[in-house]
Amino acid sequence: MKEKAIVFFSRNGSTRLAAKIIAEKIDADLIELKEQKAKLGFLVSGFRASMKKHVTPAGDPWGQIRGHSTVVFGAPIWAGSGNPVMNGFLDKAELSGKKVYLFTVQADPGKGKSDEVLAYYSQRVKGAGGTVAGAFSLTGASPGKTAEEAALRESLSGWDLLK
Ligand SMILES: Cc1cc2nc3c(=O)[nH]c(=O)nc-3n(C[C@H](O)[C@H](O)[C@H](O)COP(=O)(O)O)c2cc1C
Repeated sequence: MKEKAIVFFSRNGSTRLAAKIIAEKIDADLIELKEQKAKLGFLVSGFRASMKKHVTPAGDPWGQIRGHSTVVFGAPIWAGSGNPVMNGFLDKAELSGKKVYLFTVQADPGKGKSDEVLAYYSQRVKGAGGTVAGAFSLTGASPGKTAEEAALRESLSGWDLLK
């Protein structure tokens, strides 16, 4: 087990690709959050995200980060809100003594709502006993598409965490 872990949710691959790039740079384990049930369609997923719903991820990702001192959480923005699966993960996260970095991925090149979503996650991390050490917002791709790796690498090179 490595000292650092990246916990992420991704439906169309952009957040997964960003997580892999970060993992390679900071030498971290990758932990993917999965939906327990078959995925809902775009409109229902967006509506539920806008209602701040929480979806409990499958398996035991909480146990998987027990031994990591630094964790990075990444999720796509849905309907201008945090992702329901990341919300569900944070419900049961025990982050005492952990240093936490956050990132969001979204279609909008202007990164609208990313400040609000990152502030919401920061508050939840603090509530779970963690210390937020940094946050970053990325542009991924339009719904259903996956971002180009080169574009993600270029954007991520601007994050202190990777320098
Ligand atoms: C249900 C749903 C709602 C979305 N809402 C937004 C949004 O409000 N703003 C935005 O910029 N992108 C939005 N997107 C686009 C995703 O954030 C974008 O495609 C991102 O790259 C997806 O990451 P992923 O490939 O890791 O799943 C939405 C995508 C889905 C599926």
